[in-house]
Amino acid sequence: MANVVIIGAQWGDEGKGKVVDIYTEHAQQVVRYQGGNNAGHTLVVGDQTIVLHLIPSGILHPGKRCVIGNGVVLDPKIFLGEIENLKKKGYIKDDQQLLVDSNLHVIMPWHKAIDLAREKDTSRKIGTTGRGIGPAYEDKIGRRGIRMSDLTKPQVFRRKLKEVLPEKNFLLEKFFGEAPLDEEQIFTEYSGYAQQIAKYIGCCSTTLNKAIQAGDNLLFEGAQGTLLDIDHGTYPYVTSSSTCIGGVSTGTGVAPRHITGVVGITKAYCTRVGEGPFPSELHDEMGERLRKAGNEFGSTTGRPRRCGWFDAVAIREAVRLNGLTGLAVTKLDVLNELDAIKVCTAYSYKGQMLEEFPRDADILQECTPVYEEFEGWRSDICEARTMADLPAAAKAYLAKLEELSGCPAVLISVGPRRDQTIQVSNPFS
Ligand code: IMP
Repeated sequence: MANVVIIGAQWGDEGKGKVVDIYTEHAQQVVRYQGGNNAGHTLVVGDQTIVLHLIPSGILHPGKRCVIGNGVVLDPKIFLGEIENLKKKGYIKDDQQLLVDSNLHVIMPWHKAIDLAREKDTSRKIGTTGRGIGPAYEDKIGRRGIRMSDLTKPQVFRRKLKEVLPEKNFLLEKFFGEAPLDEEQIFTEYSGYAQQIAKYIGCCSTTLNKAIQAGDNLLFEGAQGTLLDIDHGTYPYVTSSSTCIGGVSTGTGVAPRHITGVVGITKAYCTRVGEGPFPSELHDEMGERLRKAGNEFGSTTGRPRRCGWFDAVAIREAVRLNGLTGLAVTKLDVLNELDAIKVCTAYSYKGQMLEEFPRDADILQECTPVYEEFEGWRSDICEARTMADLPAAAKAYLAKLEELSGCPAVLISVGPRRDQTIQVSNPFS
């Protein structure tokens, strides 16, 4: 039995989708535990590019069960759209392949409206994806959310709608100056979604724990990244869920003792979307070069990603917070043509050297990176399939990343395709 968690070790978009897709071979169940359709996983399979926002990437593998845990917030329209698209492409043949936890919270129209309205105030802008994620989690914690099970019971849904909507409309109309939402329209539309989703609803905790007892391997697919965690990230420039390891247990009902490995995904450089501090960000031509070479545009919103050098201070934080047992280094090939590559090894803050990631975003904002420079390999590594195939300078760069982060590399990605991967060791064995 091996139950492995995949976690973003930076600010999201590290290439988790591809790694999950590769590791799915070793697991029978692939599970999402937090976030919602703010995530976007791009997968290249043969000549098809598939972008998934909600359904775990494991769905591309026949016979694997994909579970959306209670910790996820789910937009039913997006979910049903993804199913339809996957069915059209021939990926979902059996409805039993999908399970949606009955306790997960539903993203309602007011969540999206409030998210977008809040973001209009540029002085408080977080740069959210505008998908209603934060407001949905606010209502969950505020004990006024609507869960998937509520949606399937017309009387309960109607009662909750009557309780919640007047407050939301007051906020939308009187505070944000936006149009109010119509109860009847929401009731009809969302009851319709519930009918279509009903066949997928079940209990994530019972299903997964039974699977563990039966000897199945589980793969937990994290969304966003460590530094966007609501508790441990660069608050308030974070998402509203627990992206770190703790989110796995609260978001699925699987106890921590069942987790056997935690792989942190990191790009060979670093990116961030939205607002917030990013010490190793490049504002020059090199940043632009990384953006172009890495095609760094958000798969959910299309926004250009901010680009910078690999930040070892931030990765050490991710190693410690999540107890990472291995690193998967993605997009190493994006650095192919560079003469020199820098790595941020520490921060300088008001004349002080910081080796630890500051917990206060205001301090982080004022940190300047301390860099070490490495020679580039100036050659195409896309065909490398073992460590021995890599040029000496690429091997040296990876060895330095391992040394600085204190965590061994278990996988190296040298291109977007499944086969463009070096598997150093298998976290499932
Ligand atoms: P929200 O999750 O839409 O509330 O956005 C909060 C912050 O998290 C913003 O800075 C977003 O850009 C960022 N964010 C949310 N989801 C992702 C993701 O999947 N990748 C990268 N950044 C994300």
